[in-house]
Amino acid sequence: MKNFEFYNPTKIVFGPGRVAELANLVPAAARVLILFGGASAQKTGTLDEVKAALGSRSVHEFGGIEPNPTYETLMKAVEQVKREKIDFLLAVGGGSVIDGAKFVAAAACFDGEPWDILLKGGGQVQQALPFGTVLTLPATGSEMNSGSVVTRKATHTKLAFMSRHVFPQFSVLDPTKTYTLPTKQIANGIADAFVHTVEQYLTYPVQALPQDRFAEGLLQTLIEIAPKALAEPEDYDTRANLMWTATLALNGLIGAGVPQDWATHMIGHELTALYGIDHARTLAIVLPSLLKVKRETKRAKLLQYAERVWHITSGTDDERIDAAIARTRAFFESLGIQTQLSGYALGQEAVDAVVAQLEAHGMTALGEHKDISLEVSRAILQAAL
Ligand code: NZQ
Ligand code: ZN
Repeated sequence: MKNFEFYNPTKIVFGPGRVAELANLVPAAARVLILFGGASAQKTGTLDEVKAALGSRSVHEFGGIEPNPTYETLMKAVEQVKREKIDFLLAVGGGSVIDGAKFVAAAACFDGEPWDILLKGGGQVQQALPFGTVLTLPATGSEMNSGSVVTRKATHTKLAFMSRHVFPQFSVLDPTKTYTLPTKQIANGIADAFVHTVEQYLTYPVQALPQDRFAEGLLQTLIEIAPKALAEPEDYDTRANLMWTATLALNGLIGAGVPQDWATHMIGHELTALYGIDHARTLAIVLPSLLKVKRETKRAKLLQYAERVWHITSGTDDERIDAAIARTRAFFESLGIQTQLSGYALGQEAVDAVVAQLEAHGMTALGEHKDISLEVSRAILQAAL
């Protein structure tokens, strides 16, 4: 096991009806800015519920944070924070709204051009406004981590930053809030959580036994609950398990002390920034190809994954690896997610464009061995045509 530090200060408040506890979770004297997305928080009644729980506090609102939140929109929220002397943020939504709130929290306290926070990955963030979240979409794990991904629309640049100052103080996880999600978003959430787990597991062995078993448990849980999560929106136990699994997949626990890959995400972010494909769908395009191209360096873990996650025990090593990759692809397809660029009407021009953007963003040495050069990324995309 590698050396590590594990720190996660986010308090999780889990279960139906717990939005009411915002009354105690948010400081009584706070000037609160509620951040939310398009129409869903209003339509589902969650926004009213949140406002009722906040009672007589000074409450302000900023709506319109789009999926794949943009710097351009978020800077308007930063202005509002300054204008209205906001001292607490409350994100009500999915990963996009929560990531947006993290950026606003850091940018509002930042000296200089806030885009630098993303260009430099967050290391220079010294402080941020405190904030909490009410999660309405299980997928990203943003509700219990210190990462945020923001897109600069003008240049099609989607970058991430991390800072210990942007862990949410608390996140309210009410699984019944997911009942209103379109099936497509549930499919996306399952695929995103699956790939988060894979990016921290399917690398090379370092004798990190609990991390491996924990990751395998999360993957098996997702495989087990996926059909019901899609078919029975109001099955509480299924949605509760999906919500907590997605949180655990990216709250730092399974990633502690192990090598991490993240190349699928970096390549995927370029596909979203260029073509607007949903985050999770880009991952389903890239991952099966990446596993194929990187099968030699990932060999030992691929065999472990085949046996323990998919119960593939017969055939030669290569046959078992092929079968595990095929099962992974079939799993995404079973969620209704296409796994090839052609499924999104993209061809060779997209391969060239993504490679050019990876180069422009310095993504030239990706993966757990930093050996995914632009040429390797090209081969991965080529295999996904
Ligand atoms: O905008 P509204 O109207 O609210 O609708 C949203 C949005 O259109 C809708 N929605 C959310 N909750 C709903 C609902 N509709 C009905 N009922 C509800 N309860 O769902 C749509 C998608 O929401 P979004 O927040 O964009 O989805 P997701 O949670 O998948 O977040 C994706 C973003 O997170 C980033 C991605 O790159 C992407 O920008 N990621 C963040 C990570 C992190 N911070 O750790 C890691 C991830 O790998 C990922 O990169
Ligand atoms: Zn993701």
